[in-house]
This record gives sequence, structure tokens and C-alpha cells, in this order.
Amino acid sequence: MNPVAPATPGKDFLSILDLVRGDLDRLLGLAAQMKADRRLGTRAPTADALGGAHVAMLFEKPSLRTRSTFEIAVRELGGHALHLPAEFAQGTREPLEDVARNLERWVRALVIRTFAHRKAAIFAAAASDLHVINALSDEEHPCQALADMLTLRERWGSGRGRTLAYVGDGNNTATSLVHAAPQLGISVHLASPPGYELPARVVDEAIRGARDGASVRSFRDPRQAAAGVDAVCTDVWTSMGQEAETEERRRVFAGFQVDAALMAAAARGALFMHCLPAHRGEEVTAEVFESDASVVFDQAENRLHTQKALLAMLLA
Ligand code: CP
Ligand code: NVA
Repeated sequence: MNPVAPATPGKDFLSILDLVRGDLDRLLGLAAQMKADRRLGTRAPTADALGGAHVAMLFEKPSLRTRSTFEIAVRELGGHALHLPAEFAQGTREPLEDVARNLERWVRALVIRTFAHRKAAIFAAAASDLHVINALSDEEHPCQALADMLTLRERWGSGRGRTLAYVGDGNNTATSLVHAAPQLGISVHLASPPGYELPARVVDEAIRGARDGASVRSFRDPRQAAAGVDAVCTDVWTSMGQEAETEERRRVFAGFQVDAALMAAAARGALFMHCLPAHRGEEVTAEVFESDASVVFDQAENRLHTQKALLAMLLA
């Protein structure tokens, strides 16, 4: 058994790249429908989509949005969430493979937030009946990108011909954003300080998945990256697990704050996006965060609808 074999297509969701062509569009359509149907409560057509199935949740890092929205999503689809202590992701009491092989006998899916992306892959490879969903790893945050794409679709309709800028750390959130947007015809401008760029592999993957003429371009100057774009996205400068680098990162990223001047370089009506939690005064000013351009709480709401669609597509 190769413990880090690629996820089985259609079984797991460790990365936006696990979606086959057309899946992203289909998922967003389903999520929009589920969002509209939510007012029906238990009369919604998908209220029993999980038919009482159990979904395990294993979180090695803090979470407000992801944990809450997965728990609500499972419940609104007629399933049950089982919260596992974080120690089971450490593989010390028993190997991760054995944890996975136990879980698959009881639950349909595992939602895992972990440090090493490889751990999620080990769970996925070890248990052929367990759907594994990446709720954020050090490398990727694919569930966030689903919500971000629904948010843009609600504002723009088709993404074709649109451009977003990602300004800041080339991190997990940026990776999944860049994997997703070009698939919908949305071009991406990237601006990160030297040494903090997205890996070249991620940019290549994004270009390979691009549709409708979307492109991915890198800039040194955030102002140039933001010029004329339809949305400006950012994320924290210091991700969970990097706390020891906080002061160093504040120095390195100082010129990469999303402020009113940067937003003014973007197109009229451009959106401001952030996965949250946000640090006002670091990656974004309070003024931009609270401005009419900001869609951050739409993104947070859409975590719920897109994850319901994801669970329904993988499990139902
Ligand atoms: N955006 C996001 O994933 O938030 P949490 O870390 O609170 O889950
Ligand atoms: N890049 C951030 C995202 C938090 C949702 C982190 O990993 O901490």
C-alpha cells in the first residue's frame, strides 16, 4: 500500500485538483440551490441526503468557520457529526492507517484539519470506504476556495473575463484559490514578497486547469497586481503553526497590506475578500475590512452551502 497515493477520484476531497472537469461548476450550482432551499428547513429536498450517516471530525488546529459549518452541514443533510480528540491525528497511540481502518467501519466520511497534508492523504489511502475531506492543511484549503467561488458567482455570474488579485502570503488559502479560479475562467494576479510566493508547481497546476482564456501572472508590486482587477483577496501573514515567525513576517509583509490606496487601484466596484480570521492593521486595514467592497461574511456564510453540496456529491 502506498500511503500517499493520490486520492481516489470521487472518493476524497483533499484538493481542488481532486475535482474532475465540470465538478466545480456542478458543485456551485448545487450549493446555490441548497442555499435557496435552506428556508424550507426539514422540508428541503436534501434534508435527508445523508440518511443518518455519521461523519467524523478531526481537528488538529483551531477553527470557528470550518468546524461550525461542517457540523451544521451534516445535521442539515440528515447525518450526525462525531468529534474526535485531536490526539488521534498524531499517530502515537496507534498508526494513522489503523485509525482510518477503524473509522471506515463506523462512519462514511472524515473531515480533517491537520498540519502535514500527507496525513490527510494517509487516511484517504488507508481506507477505501472512507471519504476524506481536507478541512485545511499546511498546503491547501480547498473548502475555502469552494465558498470563495460561490461568492464570486453570486456577484458576477460567469467568471469569464474577470480577474482577481491575491496579495500576501503564498499559503494554503492562496493555493486553493489559484487552483479554483482559473477553472471558472477567472484570471489571477499574484503578489507576494520574495521567498513567500506560491510554489511554481501550484502556478503550473493552476495554468493547466485554466478555462476560457484565464491566465495566472506574478507581480513584485502589489499595486501593479491590483491594477484594474475585479477583486482583491488576502489572508493572514502568519498562518496557524507559524507563530514563532510572527515578528519577522510583519516586517517582510509590511508593503503588502490591503488598504484604501490598493483598493483604489482596482476596478470600480472591486470586491475585497478574506477567508477570516483577519488581523486588522496587518494584512488589511479596518477601513477596507468594513467597507462596502468587503464580502468576507458572504464567504463565511457560503462555507455552509458549499460544504453541504460537497458532502451530498461525495456521499449521497
Ligand atoms: N476560514 C476558515 O477556515 O476559518 P476557521 O479557521 O475558523 O475554520
Ligand atoms: N492561512 C490561514 C488560514 C486560516 C483559515 C492558516 O492556515 O492559518
